[in-house]
Amino acid sequence: VTKRIGILGGGQLGLLLAQSLVRLGCAVSIYEPDPEAPACKQTNRASNGSFTDQEKLERFFAECDLVTYEFENVESELLFQLQRKKALLPSAEILSITQNRGHEKSFMRKCGLPYPQFCVVETGASLEDALADFGLPCIAKTTSGGYDGKGQFLLESVTDAQALCDVLKKSPVEIILEEKIELDIEVSCIVGRSQNGEQVVFPVFENRHRHHILDLTLLPATAPLRVLDKVMELAARAAHELKVIGLLTVEFFLTRTAPQSRSAVEIDGFYILINEFAPRPHNSGHITMKACDLSQFDILARILADVPLRQPVMVGKDNYCMGNLLGDLWLSQNASARAAFEGLDLSALVDFPEVVDVVIYGKTEARPKRKMGHFIAASDSLVHLIEVADKFRARLSVPRDALSAEIVGGLKSNE
Ligand SMILES: Nc1ncnc2c1ncn2[C@@H]1O[C@H](COP(=O)(O)OP(=O)(O)O)[C@@H](O)[C@H]1O
Ligand SMILES: [Mg+2]
Repeated sequence: VTKRIGILGGGQLGLLLAQSLVRLGCAVSIYEPDPEAPACKQTNRASNGSFTDQEKLERFFAECDLVTYEFENVESELLFQLQRKKALLPSAEILSITQNRGHEKSFMRKCGLPYPQFCVVETGASLEDALADFGLPCIAKTTSGGYDGKGQFLLESVTDAQALCDVLKKSPVEIILEEKIELDIEVSCIVGRSQNGEQVVFPVFENRHRHHILDLTLLPATAPLRVLDKVMELAARAAHELKVIGLLTVEFFLTRTAPQSRSAVEIDGFYILINEFAPRPHNSGHITMKACDLSQFDILARILADVPLRQPVMVGKDNYCMGNLLGDLWLSQNASARAAFEGLDLSALVDFPEVVDVVIYGKTEARPKRKMGHFIAASDSLVHLIEVADKFRARLSVPRDALSAEIVGGLKSNE
């Protein structure tokens, strides 16, 4: 019998996972509030409902053989109930740890994994007192609900701190204070762990952010090999300790400046710290769709379908890079807010043979900073690759009118 896998969340991660599942002969059901979401429009079975609608969720779980998620902000209390009747992978226990930055870091401390110094300030507790103890500069984050840098505040001065204290007095919320790491390199490492505890580890990706949003992922990462080996070992240990069934993405900070945290692992002049976990496919892992012989989605699909794993390895070129395509590009090509309906003009591809793949998620509305697609480029030179990524996106951001004017201008001057 065909196995029906349910996915909570119908964004691009859900869509790309569904594609890998279908290739293994699985049936897929999506649960997602927005009927226009990428995975709803491109798969044949979707339930549209809110993530708090217990009845609808129960019906959804009942129609599936097992359920996974691509979206992390589903109330874990509800998932604890739902998983009593039907397997949820990774489990609600794991999600409830990774949903809360405080629980997540306490877990790292308990397992002897390296983490930045932190302090949890409970809802309603005095942030002034906590800050007096913890010291500045630091980074304050809401313990739950944040993504792409949302819910984060860099506190450098007393004025910054006072401003946040005022905000919290009006709308109290639990906060975590973290020491500010002098970042040299950010990397991520994805581990797949099967239903019988077998683990595979992807090579380490380097992540470069712009405005707190992932901008470029590079493979291989530029840190020394011994550091990258340690990163893979720590990621594998985290997945093992959490007993994840599915994927665990581990985000790391690498710094040459000694952090306050004494848990940091030092190798060849680099201090290694874990930033956070995500028990699901990850934006940085899109690079595996071209750079590796099995993608992050293929590995997760095998785990869910209970198909034997194989360690993924890099293929083809020496260097790969993945760049996000944000809604800003759609808007700059075509200033109208409904630009997404007209799609992105990809004619620039003709000048960029290094760009080996472009994936557009099919979101119906382009918004600034919204992840709408990504591209992957390959080359034997890293420096060239980064230049290509910048130039390719610069070309994509030219307004359409200007593009056609350029062509017309070009024709005229040829006459
Ligand atoms: N303690 C820290 N020190 C220095 N930079 C940080 C720290 N925490 C977060 N950042 C920066 O902000 C980015 C987003 O923070 P993160 O905790 O990963 O939240 P998100 O859930 O938004 O990804 C990180 O990738 C890093 O660039
Ligand atoms: Mg992050």
